[in-house]
Amino acid sequence: MASLDNRSYYDEFAGWYERERGKGYHRMLDDLEVQLVERYGTDRDVLEVGCGTGLILGRVATFARSATGVDLSAGMLAKATARGLSVAQGSATNLPVRDASVDVAYSFKVLAHVADIEGAMREMARVVRPGGWVLAEFYNARSLRRLVKWLKPPSAVSAQTNDEAVYTRYDTKEAIAGYLPPELEWVTSRGIRIVTPVSQVHDLPVVGHLVRRAEDLLADRPIARDLGGFLVVVARRR
Ligand SMILES: C[S@@+](CC[C@H](N)C(=O)[O-])C[C@H]1O[C@@H](n2cnc3c(N)ncnc32)[C@H](O)[C@@H]1O
Repeated sequence: MASLDNRSYYDEFAGWYERERGKGYHRMLDDLEVQLVERYGTDRDVLEVGCGTGLILGRVATFARSATGVDLSAGMLAKATARGLSVAQGSATNLPVRDASVDVAYSFKVLAHVADIEGAMREMARVVRPGGWVLAEFYNARSLRRLVKWLKPPSAVSAQTNDEAVYTRYDTKEAIAGYLPPELEWVTSRGIRIVTPVSQVHDLPVVGHLVRRAEDLLADRPIARDLGGFLVVVARRR
């Protein structure tokens, strides 16, 4: 399948994007991500880079002082706007946001699809106030998720395209450390999806509950920092 640029891919994906959300596996990802934003962003000015349809941003808006989002795709943003969220169209590598104007900039399931990752990290650092936080999620090259993705056939994201049609990068922790500009200090990280073999286990009675419980318990343990399929770096702006 031909590779699509990010904007066309996500415009195409927008119609189906929320089909699986709100329950099971996707609910777990959202919950573990939102919890982290809540730790750093309660009563603060918060920005989501690549906010998509605003599912996460809508939850963040309930505890942040202000919550705004930026995304490349008009198709995705139309849904965020319909939710009443404050959003703007723009790129992670050229954010339409003033220098040092937010306390927290976070990004989930986006940065692995941005080829100029150093540019995106510089932009997140630029918009955060000194002492503020960047929460940046990457796809871990050394994880069960990576292995399963490698073995599995591609998943459809619309009637026309699948998840292999967009640029995707899997990173080691060492590579991620190299993407941070000098003004960001890596303080800690959270690992999400450590033991889940395939997303469908979360739909099973009892087993789904146990796997979810295990993921909740492990997310902040050292094992998660090594093996989490999604690795969220918590970095402080010096
Ligand atoms: C998988 S979705 C994640 C959306 C949201 N963060 C969430 O967790 O529900 C990825 C989003 O990143 C956006 N995106 C991809 N590349 C981007 C870029 N270079 N700049 C801004 N947004 C981008 C896409 O349009 C899409 O809405």
